[in-house]
Amino acid sequence: QEPVPFYGARQAGIATPAQDRLAFAAFDITATDAESVQVMLGTWAAAAAQMTRGLPVGADDRNTQSPPVDTGEAEGLGPARLTVTVGFGPTFFDERFGLSHHRPAALADLPTLPGDGSLQPERSGGDLCVQACADDPTVAFHVIRNFARLARGTAVIRWSQLGFGRTSSTSQAQQTERNLMGFKDGTRNIKSESGTDMADYVWVGKETDQSWMRDGSYLVARRIRMLIESWDTDSLADQQNVFGRFRTSGAPLTGHGEFDTPDLNAKGRDGQPVIPAGAHIRLASPSSNNGQKILRRGYSYTDGIDATTGLLDAGLFFLAYQKDPRKQFVPIQTRLGRQDNLNEYIRHTGSALFAVPPGLKGAGDWWGKSLF
Ligand code: HEM
Repeated sequence: QEPVPFYGARQAGIATPAQDRLAFAAFDITATDAESVQVMLGTWAAAAAQMTRGLPVGADDRNTQSPPVDTGEAEGLGPARLTVTVGFGPTFFDERFGLSHHRPAALADLPTLPGDGSLQPERSGGDLCVQACADDPTVAFHVIRNFARLARGTAVIRWSQLGFGRTSSTSQAQQTERNLMGFKDGTRNIKSESGTDMADYVWVGKETDQSWMRDGSYLVARRIRMLIESWDTDSLADQQNVFGRFRTSGAPLTGHGEFDTPDLNAKGRDGQPVIPAGAHIRLASPSSNNGQKILRRGYSYTDGIDATTGLLDAGLFFLAYQKDPRKQFVPIQTRLGRQDNLNEYIRHTGSALFAVPPGLKGAGDWWGKSLF
């Protein structure tokens, strides 16, 4: 398969049809000088250019007494449609590196939202993020491992998350996958073929107060644990009322086909709305949110068991790209956090926000180069 081009006006890994696997990491910068950060980002960019072409991060020299330049586990696996997408957290713009005047207004810290009570600081935040997506899990992990190695002395991993089974189709060419609750996820997602939706809701345009962010986007990451065991005891009818969709077909409760438009006004014989007042698709829909949409690009995760309860720690690692989280994720999640029928079965355990700059022009360019 052809590599996904690494260089371009916009970073790959946003509009790219979602790959099967994810390796994600948030890094904290431990260096105190801007120069070390610049060197690290430049080194990461050169390494990403190699890895996305299916190549090792660098050639070994002949000295067998030094460690190999590349860790080697992805050798022979090919590019596997690898994309490497990097973003800057709000703390990247604090006083440490002299970048505070470059902080975009849209990178305002996420406020405390309804349902935030289970967030864990050790799974939240970060100065930088790296999203590696590929059709092979080793190829995706190889990026995080080698970036951590190349960052040694400058940055450390704050938290990381592996994901599988993409939970959102982001292209019309893809069929809709199911999340761990068994429902099709991504039916009414923004599709990257829709240039208007991408321009209106995903890519940063001339409205920004920071011109360096043009053609970038903002990423909200939420680790959302599903209380799978209790979900699995719920009746099918109730599960369908949680989302407002039929489980098998993915159709809205007011339709027959997966892509039928939900009729939020339809009433049943009992006079009650067919798609319940607290249904996830009612509360998340653009018509309940001032017309706003987001590009969801999440993955399922499972991280063994919760040691205190013995229950599975599994769920959705929610990733959403948007033009301005203050107008998109924050109001949508405020509504969901208050009223969503789904809340009984989920807990948000991690949260982070990143400004994802535009793409890199070519060799020698790196994320945020114009800022320093
Ligand atoms: C739609 C699942 C969390 C925003 C859907 C659908 C499912 C689903 C099954 C219907 C199919 C579709 O159109 O994609 C879940 C699960 C979640 C979760 C299992 C948590 C574990 C969230 C969060 C947000 C969100 C945190 C945003 C704050 C949306 C949006 C839609 C949607 C915007 C499309 C609504 C429409 O226009 O019809 N979700 N979701 N979801 N979800 Fe979620």
